[in-house]
Formats: sequence, C-alpha cells, structure tokens
Amino acid sequence: MRLILCENYEELSEQAAKLVASQIILKPDSVLGLATGQTPVGIYQNLVKMNKAGEIDFSNIVTFNLDEYYPIQNNNDQSYHYFMQENLFKKVNINPKNTHIPDGEAADPEEECIKYEEEIKKYGGIDLQILGIGQNGHIGFNEPDVSLYTETHLTDLTRSTIEANARFFNDENEVPKQALTMGIATILKSKKIILLASGANKSRVVSELLNGDINTSIPATMLKVHPDVVLICDKDAYSGIRLGIDIGGTSVKFAVLEDNKLIYKSSIPTNKESMDIFVKEIVVECYKIKNNYSYKAIGVGTPGRISDGLVTAANLPFKNTHLAKELKKYIDLPVNVDNDANCAALGEFEFGVGKDMDNIIMVTLGTGVGGGIIIDGRICHGRYSMGEIGHIIVQSKGGLPCPCGQTGCWEQYASVTALIREGEKACLENKDSLLYDLYLKNNNKLDGKLIFDALEQNCETAQKVFDEYIEWLVIGLKNLINIFGPDAIILAGGITQRGSILIDAVRNALDTPVKIEISKLQNDAGALGAAML
Ligand code: F6R
Repeated sequence: MRLILCENYEELSEQAAKLVASQIILKPDSVLGLATGQTPVGIYQNLVKMNKAGEIDFSNIVTFNLDEYYPIQNNNDQSYHYFMQENLFKKVNINPKNTHIPDGEAADPEEECIKYEEEIKKYGGIDLQILGIGQNGHIGFNEPDVSLYTETHLTDLTRSTIEANARFFNDENEVPKQALTMGIATILKSKKIILLASGANKSRVVSELLNGDINTSIPATMLKVHPDVVLICDKDAYSGIRLGIDIGGTSVKFAVLEDNKLIYKSSIPTNKESMDIFVKEIVVECYKIKNNYSYKAIGVGTPGRISDGLVTAANLPFKNTHLAKELKKYIDLPVNVDNDANCAALGEFEFGVGKDMDNIIMVTLGTGVGGGIIIDGRICHGRYSMGEIGHIIVQSKGGLPCPCGQTGCWEQYASVTALIREGEKACLENKDSLLYDLYLKNNNKLDGKLIFDALEQNCETAQKVFDEYIEWLVIGLKNLINIFGPDAIILAGGITQRGSILIDAVRNALDTPVKIEISKLQNDAGALGAAML
C-alpha cells in the first residue's frame, strides 16, 4: 500500500482528483468505482472544475457506486443517488446511462445485487475504485466481521455506522438499517484502488491499517492483499498523537501517545466533590498538555457503569454524567469514554503482554477485583458496560455480602481487601505466628505487603491464608477461561509485583494452556489504553 500524506483535506482532495483525472486521460472509457460520504466531496469538486476547464472528459466514462441505503427512495435527499447527482453527475458531461448505483427502491434486493454484479462484469470490471473508510474500518458498507469475501449484497448496518451517519439525517432513527453494497470481493477485483482518510476520527483505523495485520474486525485491512492501493490521508487522520486520560479514585493520569509511543505523562488529584469543577480541572490539564503536544483525539477511562454514554461512578461526582459531552463543551476534538478496567485491558493488549495476541482478559487485584475482556482485538461491551468480572458469583449459598447487592461475589474472596481480612482473622487465631507479630508492630493492622513479608519468611499462618486466597482467585479465573478461552489472563495490581510468588501459585493451581502473565504496564495501562479508544 502506497501512502500519500497531505497537509490537509484540500490537498487530499486535489491529490486524489489528479489521480482520477490521470486515469480518465489515459483511458477515456474507464470504469470508475465511486464512493459517497463526506470525504470524496472535495474530489468531486475538483473533478467538476477540471471538466469545466476542458481538462477531462466524462462522455465515455462509466461509473459504479459502491453502495446505497436500503430501502430508500432515489429522490430522498439522503440517498446516494441524490448525493451523486448533486456532487458530480449533474455537473459534468457524463452520460446518465453510464452511471450505476445499487437501487434502494428495488423490490427484490437480492436480485438487484446479482444484477449489479453482472453489470460490473459486463463492463470488464472496475479500473479505478475510490473508497472512503468508516471510523470502524468499514469500506463500502462491509462492516466488521460480517462475511467479508462477498460480492454485492444486502447488509445490516452496525450501530456505530448508524451513529456515524446520523449526522446527515434529522434523527438517528431515520438512518436506514440496511444497505446494498459491493462486497470486499467486488472491491478487490478493481484494478486500482484509492483509499481516502480525512480527520482525526479516522486516525485509529489508519494506524491499524498501516501498522496492523489483516484483521476481519477492520475490513479495510483486507486491502493489504491488493497490489495497487494508494492511501491518501491528511495529517489529522495520520497523526498518531492522542491523549489518554485515566480517571482514578485518587488521581487522574494523562498520557500522550505519538505513533503509538508514550511521549508525555502527567497527573492531577481527583476531585470528588463537584462534577463541574472536576471536569474543568481535567480540561485545564488538557489545555496545558496541548501547549506542547497537538493531540487530535482524546480517550477517557473512568470507573463506574457507562450506559448510552452516561457515567455513574460510586466514588466520583458522576451521576448519569455524559462525560464526553461535558468535556466537548470545552474541547473541540473527538472524545471517547470507556470503563477504566476496559481501558487498562486495551492498554495491555496494544502495548503490553497482550501485544501479539487476539484475546486477553486483564484482571486487576486491588481493593476490589476489576477487569477488561478483549476478544478478537476488541473490548467486549454488553448492552451495559461489561467487564464487571469482580462480581461473578463464586459462592451462592452463604456467600459474603457485597456492596453491589449480591452475595458471594468473586471480589469478596479474591481482592487484596479479602486477603488482608482473612490474614487479620488468621493471625488473631494464631498469636504465636510471625504474621501476628507483624500485625502488632503495624498498629494492629495488616496490609498486602506484610502478608508477603511473612510468606517469604515461611510463616505457616500466612501460607495457609495465601493458599486459600489462591484457591478463590483460581475459581474465578477458571470461570473466565471456560467462558472466553482467551490466549492469556493478565494479572495486575500491587500484589502481582512481589516477585513471582503469586504468579507461580496461580500457574500451578490452574494447569492450563492459557498463558497466565503479570501486567507489564501496571499503573500506566489505563491511560495508554484510553488513548487508543
Ligand atoms: C460511502 C461508503 C462508506 C464511506 C465511509 C466514510 O459510499 O461506502 O464506506 O466511505 O463511511 O464516510 P465519510 O467519508 O463520510 O467519513
């Protein structure tokens, strides 16, 4: 894939139009594959100008558009028929009979697709295909992970595409839920392809496209098998500079990544009193960072539940707070928000132990048990924010009560809080133990570090507490392995950093081909993952 990097959208449109014009000049009866959407508008404007100036002639050009919503009336001003008329066809000397767009009014969509594909073949295939790219990596309407090696077909649009395209409609509900689209197979048969990417919201997929492997969850990566693809993108789409924000109970961490490398870190204290002031404090830090690093997108990890963008977090001033909208009141950049544990998992997946894997589960052992699940390279979200793995139930009858309202939640047994609670109980019952001495010396309390100190000095009481702790930890891990079958489980949190005691014990007890690893990024994982949102 060849890359043409442009300063801005205007330059991108000129460069791409020049390539299309060369094709038209070299082969005046070329078959062009055309795209709609925001990105190609500038190319069409340039082509119209060149046509008016007599530099290019469309009279023998044949066109096939990539796609059309289904169902939609051709005269609907959001149809791609309408778009093409307005942006190109009625402004150049093209023969309307030579223009083809899948028919959104077709009574039988399947038959329409077969006819469309035959028509392309009749003209000898597409000489030059223009493509845009969706934020989710779709090309045409070939959405992530849906039968990718297809010809023209009827497809369901994903939620993210419906949301992205809602900007063209009065209301999201008006966006058709299906489309007729050339398939990846149709696109790959084109002789040449120009792929366009403009704007910071495309930088994630562009970076995946340039740096990652072929991956069905980013359909555009399939273009890597084509011998003649030119990616034309502007600096905003190419810029790898992004800001990740990890909101925690005591501090908010900021990380700037350039081309996927950490180039700056900072942090501010968490304000638990007022949502308004807290958001402003975060914004002030964002602006300070912006003075030195011109990031183009922000990702935020926050504790709590996120539903339809609304964040509710127990120890933070967020109660049904639309955090992205609150930040965007002050910062005019794309802002994505996700659960902090999901962000940590994403960070570890992109930059840490999970770097060369497809499926990982990150489990953070601390005050509670948190975690994020990445399957096929993507964070698993349910309808509500998922990843509440600390609340899988490991003992139903007679289980310990959990503040979440359930009883027997895993975190009541596998968190560091649980380890300390059991350690204190055991040392009070074994007053001749080293663990009890340490407890007394520390003003009648234990912490994770003291339990590990006792373990290292062969304290039997500490060993018993630790063994039982490992049993509980392993029950939850086994459940996760059985459900998700990940490549690796990655453990994070202070107690994983005490030599290899914990990881050795877990590996022995689990006896599984799944890799059990310690997080490489630990406290930085959240901010790094947030930057990748
Ligand atoms: C349009 C099409 C889509 C768009 C893509 C990017 O015919 O098939 O794949 O190219 O959604 O859209 P914009 O350019 O609006 O960001």
